Amino acid sequence: MRRMMMGTGWKMNFTIGESVRYLQTLIPRVAGDAEIDIFVVPSFTALAEVGRTLHGTNIGFGAQNMFWEERGAYTGEISPGMVAECGCRYVEMGHWERRRLFAETDEHIGKKARSAWNHGLVPIICFGEAERASQPDDAIPVLTEQLGGALGKLTPDEVARTVLAYEPAWAIGVEGQAAQPEYAAGILRAARSVVRRTHGEKAAEAVRMLYGGSVNLANAAGYLADSNVDGLFVGRAALDPEAFARLVRIGVEHSRLRETV
Ligand code: PGA
Repeated sequence: MRRMMMGTGWKMNFTIGESVRYLQTLIPRVAGDAEIDIFVVPSFTALAEVGRTLHGTNIGFGAQNMFWEERGAYTGEISPGMVAECGCRYVEMGHWERRRLFAETDEHIGKKARSAWNHGLVPIICFGEAERASQPDDAIPVLTEQLGGALGKLTPDEVARTVLAYEPAWAIGVEGQAAQPEYAAGILRAARSVVRRTHGEKAAEAVRMLYGGSVNLANAAGYLADSNVDGLFVGRAALDPEAFARLVRIGVEHSRLRETV
């Protein structure tokens, strides 16, 4: 069975001090929740301090981006080695905001994913259609293109340990626009069939697939009720650490429910 994940990307929101204060609230509230993977994705500037704060806890963390090259004349970029040096377990890539505002392409994401694994970093690869399809299977061509580009340089074993986050552009950051749970689950089923074709059955069964896009305390359980959804990746609703701790609790409860069926 795939281990559930509950994560939050902080985008460009917290300073170093705010990041540490957030974690000081979160850590004791989720300390007993060992059966799922919990993670936060802070700003670059906070990574080192976040690493110190989270040392010895059950909360993982990652960077929001990185460049694929090891070093050199790439002003403003951060290398995979620099991300790894901060103690990151994960590195996020392909978020819609980066695709739209910073021209990140599937080809770039493919290079970043390759480079991440070269450094033992787990890529959290965001994907999703820009316009809502009338039914999930209609999105298969887009998913095939995105996942083909993102996963093309990875071995089946690396894909099995990669995290995919379905984050449709139309559902992110807009009140009331979250994808319906059945629709999100349908997309993840379709995405898994794409991975099955490109990297085989074992990778397809193992790769964890999250949903993100206007997740909140009211709708989170609806997604997790479907076993195609391996966890949630939350933005706004997790900017308050108490709320994120409650979301983690919902994840833990569903993880236990899955174990009993
Ligand atoms: P949101 O953001 O939860 O604020 O919609 C989700 C995301 O971008 O990961």
